[in-house]
Amino acid sequence: MKIQTVGVVGCGLMGSGIVEVCARAGYNVVVREINDDLLQRGLDRIHRSMSKGVSRGKLTQEEMDAALARITGTVSLEAFSQADIVIEAVIENAETKKEVFAALDDICPPHAILASNTSSIPIITMAAVTGRPNQVLGLHFFNPVPVMPLLEIVRTILTDEATMNVARQFGESLGKTMVVSKDMPGFIVNRLLVPYLLDAVRLLQDGLATREDIDTAIKLGLNHPMGPLTLLDFVGLDTALFIADAMYEEFRDPRYAAPPLLRQMVTAGYLGRKSGRGFYEY
Ligand code: 3HC
Repeated sequence: MKIQTVGVVGCGLMGSGIVEVCARAGYNVVVREINDDLLQRGLDRIHRSMSKGVSRGKLTQEEMDAALARITGTVSLEAFSQADIVIEAVIENAETKKEVFAALDDICPPHAILASNTSSIPIITMAAVTGRPNQVLGLHFFNPVPVMPLLEIVRTILTDEATMNVARQFGESLGKTMVVSKDMPGFIVNRLLVPYLLDAVRLLQDGLATREDIDTAIKLGLNHPMGPLTLLDFVGLDTALFIADAMYEEFRDPRYAAPPLLRQMVTAGYLGRKSGRGFYEY
């Protein structure tokens, strides 16, 4: 199967990044948001990101214009009737995702592959509401999508080999390096990342060191691009808490139990960069 048209459901931080890499790889992309305002904000984010890419010499102005011309924004899922693959990147809520997958299953052509960018909800949950569970898998991108080279491909116990092959070719065409994971919450990256991030919050909560010293220690001692508390602000404290809770729910392992400080900060509206305040002020 040759993919020509990619559908992306959701044009938030992850959705807009996915739209950008697909359009830049030459695909026609249809992206759907729930209203015109959110759609416009997502399209503006894509524009800003590509402009930054142009100013840094990653693509030419002509390539940017051509990529933008391949993107169609919509507020209706009906526009996915021509899609060969659809990547869902809506909020991390199992019920919402199930509704999206059931609707996609009705609208998309029979050959279309349905993928989720979820980081914590088992893919089989969405696959089970479709009539094509063998053509459903996880495609987990990393933020910022145009910059981060990794793509986790998540195979459920029902995903067939033909679907895996198309997904591998697709990921390669986007310039991503792929790893394959079984369908367990957290997959590879978050399974390792989440306990580490939660431990950093525990250190701060215990008063072991200041936020700056925890981050500096990891940046300079391990050569990470950012320390764990800065990374939490970047990922979003609510997103990190949601992922941790989902993993704790599944595994019942104290390593994934969110420390009270993280939960309190989310309750207080300190969500990280996006809300102007997390462990740091922005
Ligand atoms: N297209 C192509 N390249 C782009 C681009 C675009 N739209 N926008 C930026 N870039 C390039 C820049 O040109 C630059 O490349 P260069 O070094 O060759 O010049 C590079 O990307 C970095 O851009 P900036 O210089 O603007 O930014 P920083 O140097 O401050 O780096 C960062 C930003 C890449 C985000 C870096 O801080 C980093 O690596 N942070 C960690 C990110 C991370 O860990 N992400 C994973 C989060 S976990 C996740 O997503 C999973 C989820 O489930 C929780």
